[in-house]
Amino acid sequence: MKKTKQKFYLVANWKMNPITQKKSTSLALDIAQGISEKPNLDVVICPPDLYIGMVADIANNFYVGGQNCFWERNGAFTGQASAVMLTDAGCKYVILGHSEQRKLGETNKSVNKKVKAVLKTSLKPIIAIGEKSRSKADQGEIDVSLQEQLQKAFEGISAQKAKNTIIAYEPIWAIGTGSAASTDEVMAVRIFIKKLLSKMYSISIAQHVPLLYGGSTNSKNCTDFLKLSGMDGLLVGGASLNSKEFIKMFNQISDL
Ligand code: PGA
Repeated sequence: MKKTKQKFYLVANWKMNPITQKKSTSLALDIAQGISEKPNLDVVICPPDLYIGMVADIANNFYVGGQNCFWERNGAFTGQASAVMLTDAGCKYVILGHSEQRKLGETNKSVNKKVKAVLKTSLKPIIAIGEKSRSKADQGEIDVSLQEQLQKAFEGISAQKAKNTIIAYEPIWAIGTGSAASTDEVMAVRIFIKKLLSKMYSISIAQHVPLLYGGSTNSKNCTDFLKLSGMDGLLVGGASLNSKEFIKMFNQISDL
């Protein structure tokens, strides 16, 4: 039987960058010019909310995602944007539970409410989980907080809905530090998440849900996490703000 080619995801998390609309437009245009549509590789750009419309206008060979959203649909919620609004603005994905949001007060409970709201729309949530320190990973152990974050994010979510999610493992100690997790550490967490999903749902859900790695990825290490750790893609912060570097990552992954 012919093995179908693994599908990969390359997700750019621009965070609160670039600082002007002009710079964001030129970054999006440079990326669009440097990449092409590939059947086995989906590129997703997650700009700040303010730039979503503009980036969506440029997005002819990549998808657009939000970096967060609120769980209510609309109403008196100053400063919030809903999943429905993101969908209407052209998003297909949204990152939820990023550690930088958790640091500002996001909880496992609020992540769960957001996952539920997002799964009522056509948006796919990219649910981020990650532990604070490397001490356990160093000893080949899995931090208990990962299990809690994952189980709570999926509380009350049916198997049918869970199928429509993506999970991103982003160890906090590896984010923005220039020092990524080792491929062994990422593989151990991948196996752990798969086992947990198969307990929570079924083996087929565990096989179906894509797992991404994020934390100091770049053109030098990007393919290792896919080839050696078995991940399905990457959530890229810093390196996604440099079009040349991001395009290099795209080219290497599309050659796999
Ligand atoms: P980094 O960020 O690639 O700059 O480490 C990843 C993320 O926070 O999503």
